Amino acid sequence: MTDPGERKPLVLVSNRGPVTFQDDGSVVRGTGGLVTALTGLASHRPVTWIASAMTPMDAIRAREANGPITVRSPVGGEYQVRYVASDPDAYERFYSVFANPMLWFIQHYLWDLSNAPDVRSNEIAAFEYGYQVVNEDLARAVVEEIEGVEDPVVMVHDYHLYTLPAMVRAARPDVFLSHFVHIPWTQSDAWRVLPQRTRDTLYEGLLANDIIGFHTTSYRNNFLQCCRDLMHLEVDFDDGLVHFQGRDVWVRVYPLPIDAGATRQISRTARVKEFETELLRRRRDHLILRVDRADLSKNVLRGFSAFDLFLDQHPEFRERVTFIAQLMPSRTDVPEYAEYLEKIEALVAVVNHRHGTPDWMPIQLKLRDDLDEAMAAYKNYDVLLVNAMFDGMNLVAKEGPLVNEHGGVSILSENTGAHEELGEYAISVNPFDIQELATSIHQALTMGVDERERRLAGLKRIVTARNPGDWIDDQLEDIRAKGAGG
Ligand code: G6P
Repeated sequence: MTDPGERKPLVLVSNRGPVTFQDDGSVVRGTGGLVTALTGLASHRPVTWIASAMTPMDAIRAREANGPITVRSPVGGEYQVRYVASDPDAYERFYSVFANPMLWFIQHYLWDLSNAPDVRSNEIAAFEYGYQVVNEDLARAVVEEIEGVEDPVVMVHDYHLYTLPAMVRAARPDVFLSHFVHIPWTQSDAWRVLPQRTRDTLYEGLLANDIIGFHTTSYRNNFLQCCRDLMHLEVDFDDGLVHFQGRDVWVRVYPLPIDAGATRQISRTARVKEFETELLRRRRDHLILRVDRADLSKNVLRGFSAFDLFLDQHPEFRERVTFIAQLMPSRTDVPEYAEYLEKIEALVAVVNHRHGTPDWMPIQLKLRDDLDEAMAAYKNYDVLLVNAMFDGMNLVAKEGPLVNEHGGVSILSENTGAHEELGEYAISVNPFDIQELATSIHQALTMGVDERERRLAGLKRIVTARNPGDWIDDQLEDIRAKGAGG
């Protein structure tokens, strides 16, 4: 049998690429779990990565090259990337109206049902004239990239590109398509806010894949149930199959690991050590840490409210504990995200005003994306707070314990994908229960050293057991098996 995984090229396609080019010529690494995952993957095997041009400079590079270019990421690694520039208005509708406020919200149970009827027509226009346009642009680039390649394999990523697979399949019926969804798959009722025609187009697009992958069994089961409830398709829960237009689509679970070697390497650089020296100089007895994109799904406000409550209920910890919140501003052109940032800043000011003293600021808010600074804090936290309302995986929950040298305790939302793997060694929380969160902070800060070390060792063991190479190998193995089985 020929090995489809070994044939060239292995084409990846996602909205965000590994880096974006800025006006001053500098290169910025993309944030978020998808880039972390795919950069790990791309360093394990040669790939061509097709991605949207997200800045004007990306678009210029895309036009100049008219094909893949070699880019170097500031955190290491070299990638062949083909940037695709869409019409700016179409892209705006795609990213800031449909993909993020609509699909992302639906897939994190954040969609505000009371507002749905008012905004629906706007979003449906954004689907036709934004989402579909960008999917078509990227699909065309994929088709060009695999021209002349026999039995090509294309790996599609995430919620931005649900309709691309059907477009690629129409042009190249022989293509092998696998699609990994990095975010939760919600239950069928959450999808009913979309008009049936839009919903059908999304599901039909996705079902043009040969394999669809999720982080957890629960997302896989939700997807299968959605195919039954919304599309009235025959599904097989035991084998993870959807029968669609005479084909079997495999629906599989591939929990995403982090690249432990690369992460440890970053944690040892001179710049991280400089941040650490500064952090240790200012350190109080205890350090609580969170590192997130400033996204509504991350539940940042309830985290601060819980800290506020904890300080009320345990005044003995005043002046002895600092909460560092390193938040990367994200999707700031989307009004909900811009408002969320304002709410975060306002609440931090309230909590600091209520509890702070002339030489103690309870919450230190760092609104920036600096991986080295985050690494320094990862190494030294006593408590890592990951209280997302819903989260596909959450890689912070893996990176933190991997490099922590301080017996750090993880407080982990039961609604993160990471909880399926790490829950046993974390303090599990319901992210909506502020009292439970406050109690968990106290429990973590007063836990005996042996118990802290036992839990941290357990987390390290799980996090180092698999790497992104294994993740991709599992998928390629299924690609081979399915390719062979027809
Ligand atoms: C999550 C999504 C990714 C996305 C990332 C950052 O991890 O699953 O697809 O790239 O967030 O979001 P952004 O909108 O900045 O690409």
